[in-house]
Amino acid sequence: MNTHAQHVGRRDSSLPGRIGLGLVALAVLLAPATSFAQDAAALKPATIQAAVDAAFAKYKNLKEGKNADYIPALAQVDPNLFGIALVTPDGKVYTAGDVKGQVSIQSISKVFTMAYVMQQSGTDALRDNMGVDATGQVFNSIVAIEQYKGAEMNPLVNPGAITATSMVKGASRAEVWKKILDTHSDYAGRALTVDQPVFKSEAETNQRNQALSMLMYAYGHIKDNPLQACDVYTEQCAISVNAQDLAMMAATLANGGVNPVTKKQCLDAKYVPNVLAVMATAGMYDDSGKWLYATGLPAKSGVGGGVIAVAPGKFGIAVISPPLDGAGNSVRAQKAITDISVALGGNPYASAPTK
Ligand code: DON
Repeated sequence: MNTHAQHVGRRDSSLPGRIGLGLVALAVLLAPATSFAQDAAALKPATIQAAVDAAFAKYKNLKEGKNADYIPALAQVDPNLFGIALVTPDGKVYTAGDVKGQVSIQSISKVFTMAYVMQQSGTDALRDNMGVDATGQVFNSIVAIEQYKGAEMNPLVNPGAITATSMVKGASRAEVWKKILDTHSDYAGRALTVDQPVFKSEAETNQRNQALSMLMYAYGHIKDNPLQACDVYTEQCAISVNAQDLAMMAATLANGGVNPVTKKQCLDAKYVPNVLAVMATAGMYDDSGKWLYATGLPAKSGVGGGVIAVAPGKFGIAVISPPLDGAGNSVRAQKAITDISVALGGNPYASAPTK
């Protein structure tokens, strides 16, 4: 735990700081329902930047973990890449380290395709198809499919995610792909592109995902063209992003579905809680419970080394660092996000007792 970061996040003994905190406290008393927005306003830029800098300094030399190598191209990515970005709902961006270095988005894309399906078809469509429950299994588990014939899982593990991709409505592969790429770009606030070598590398080696797709087709969750769904899913996982892109995507979810900079409504606000609930349940795979216990934050990792986390109404944060732990989650990203969130009071389950 980063005690320094906790200190800078929670205390400000200067007179303007005390007046500011007093006004915030008064506002919270008068309008408790808006306390998240008041909290966000109470986070001073210097406090946020100090928390980001402290986490970067603390973990920049940490060498734990190992790049994913079951997708050959991912083993070639520089393991030293380390970038942190945090975006607040007012569109301010805080960074440390290499925030322009790009990795493939990988499983983080599952969040935004899931959200797109909610936007197109409502929340019941996903819940009634693959489900919104934790599997307790690894992200590409065949056992998890077999256990409940492809139900009782979620759109953030591979079979559920490929099924969600298959649910994006469009007349052709090209139309479906355009919708998926456009929605990711809207969240990021810039036109994203695909890392073609990563796409090719995974497409040549994704026989297991093809098998998962066929099983989901066999059990009736994918309605047709399972291998096309797998291919589109593979392409979506190869979208290239930097830490700032990912933080902007997370901040859009922290801001009622509106990109804090472009102001584009990427997702109806009514669906945001559903997206965050699935992230909280399954975003860090079979370590999701441990992660939630430590941070309280809905989050999503990718084997490219990115992790996003959302503090609703307060901030979206992302860290890129390719070396992963045994569950497939970036080691440094988990540590840095945990420290920063503790410093900034990001845990949405925390509350202060009334006086
Ligand atoms: O389908 C796969 O295996 C990858 N394209 C994505 C997996 C992933 O990112 C899991 N993350 N922890």
